[in-house]
Amino acid sequence: MSKLRVEVPEALQPLIKPARYKGAYGGRGGAKSHFFAEQIVLKSFANPTRVVCIREVQNSLRESVRQLIADKIEKFGLGEFFQVLDAEIRGKNGSLIVFKGMQAYSAESIKSLEGFDVAWVEEAQSLSHVSLRLLRPTIRKPGSELWFSWNPRHKRDAVDELLRGPKPPEDSCVVPVGWKDNPWFPDVLKAEMNQDYARDPEMADHVWGGNYEIVTEGAYYAKLLFEAEKSGRITSVPYDPGEPVYTAWDLGLDDSTAVWFAQICGSEVRIIDFLETRNKALIEIAKQVKELPYVYAEHYMPHDVETREISTAKSRKEHCEGVGLRPIIAGSKIPVVDGINAARTLIPKCVFDAIKCERGIEALQAYRTEKNEEKDVFGAKPLHDWSSHAADAFRELAVNLFDVKKAKSQRTASLVEYDVMTYHDDYRSGTTAGVDDYNPW
Ligand SMILES: Nc1ncnc2c1ncn2[C@@H]1O[C@H](COP(=O)(O)OP(=O)(O)OP(=O)(O)O)[C@@H](O)[C@H]1O
Ligand SMILES: [Mg+2]
Repeated sequence: MSKLRVEVPEALQPLIKPARYKGAYGGRGGAKSHFFAEQIVLKSFANPTRVVCIREVQNSLRESVRQLIADKIEKFGLGEFFQVLDAEIRGKNGSLIVFKGMQAYSAESIKSLEGFDVAWVEEAQSLSHVSLRLLRPTIRKPGSELWFSWNPRHKRDAVDELLRGPKPPEDSCVVPVGWKDNPWFPDVLKAEMNQDYARDPEMADHVWGGNYEIVTEGAYYAKLLFEAEKSGRITSVPYDPGEPVYTAWDLGLDDSTAVWFAQICGSEVRIIDFLETRNKALIEIAKQVKELPYVYAEHYMPHDVETREISTAKSRKEHCEGVGLRPIIAGSKIPVVDGINAARTLIPKCVFDAIKCERGIEALQAYRTEKNEEKDVFGAKPLHDWSSHAADAFRELAVNLFDVKKAKSQRTASLVEYDVMTYHDDYRSGTTAGVDDYNPW
């Protein structure tokens, strides 16, 4: 028996041994595609193997990995063994490699793939949740494998949830791989990468560093949170029993409720916790919040919390206070844009608990304006989506903490009355900020 010797980057070597799920993810140029293409040729040469190379959308074979696999066949000198046809590649041992787009399949027609040994999903970040749900039980032959290569985009993308989430499937082998792991990283890509880092480091971090994309276009707080992360302000933030906790709520009409928990420690605002629930009665959530081991100062709720319900003749505020959650402060009706500005002022003062606030931070990152796709312009109003509840509650927090902090600062200011009087003339002539526009942060 003769042997084929193939160089494989060390970062990708764990993927050589069998596993039901194999994944390689990371920034551009990490040798992912070349690696899987070589593995397919080698596997199909060693044993009769049926392989489907999949993309979410494949409008023509030119968009597929067909040419890359054909090149690998040439590289290994196996041109005699494989027959490269237009739509498929056949091996003399009965191996078959086909190239498909998931959009071509229905729940019925995908069953034609049941006899396949390997499904390789290239550019798997584009694979929809529906496609992944269809594909997984279809590849069902004993010993069959699902391979994924991708450039991560968002934590909530189907492949990231499956293979990088808290509970990846049993028998999965997933490796991060980047350009640094690629011994053949070409100069042309290196030059591209250097230019990208010089021009837009955040974007380069995503494209080349393989980090999730920070969408700043139209997003209100994404940049501020990126800065918070970079400066280590998304970290572990324990509860300080010496300071009271302020909560801020959004009571969604579709039964979603979001609550932020904050403490003011000097000039720092510690965001220690976040809660989001669906389909749970407000009174139950109020009880749940009350029972948390925090000592509370105030609870900020939207302005309509005082409206009486027809069925019980009681307001939501009274319901919550009835279970001991008090005092509840009904927010004032201020324009959304002012709330957003208050949040923008607050975020640079905040440290967030990375674990407890994970979902809330994600929502703040995603919170954005509506976009008119036809005209390619952003509107003035926030988009209403899954991120709105956390974002609305955060606005409530920002507006109210602004007042709390201002009150605290003014108390402090009375101690230095002498200094204030010294600058009285400047204040009058407008060169020193007046109390009303004094930003307490
Ligand atoms: N096994 C290999 N042999 C020779 N060159 C390789 C090999 N693997 C990678 N390269 C070189 O590195 C480059 C990047 O590799 P590849 O396209 O596989 O990366 P990738 O991780 O799929 O990148 P992207 O995320 O951009 O799709 C290739 O264009 C090629 O020049
Ligand atoms: Mg690739």
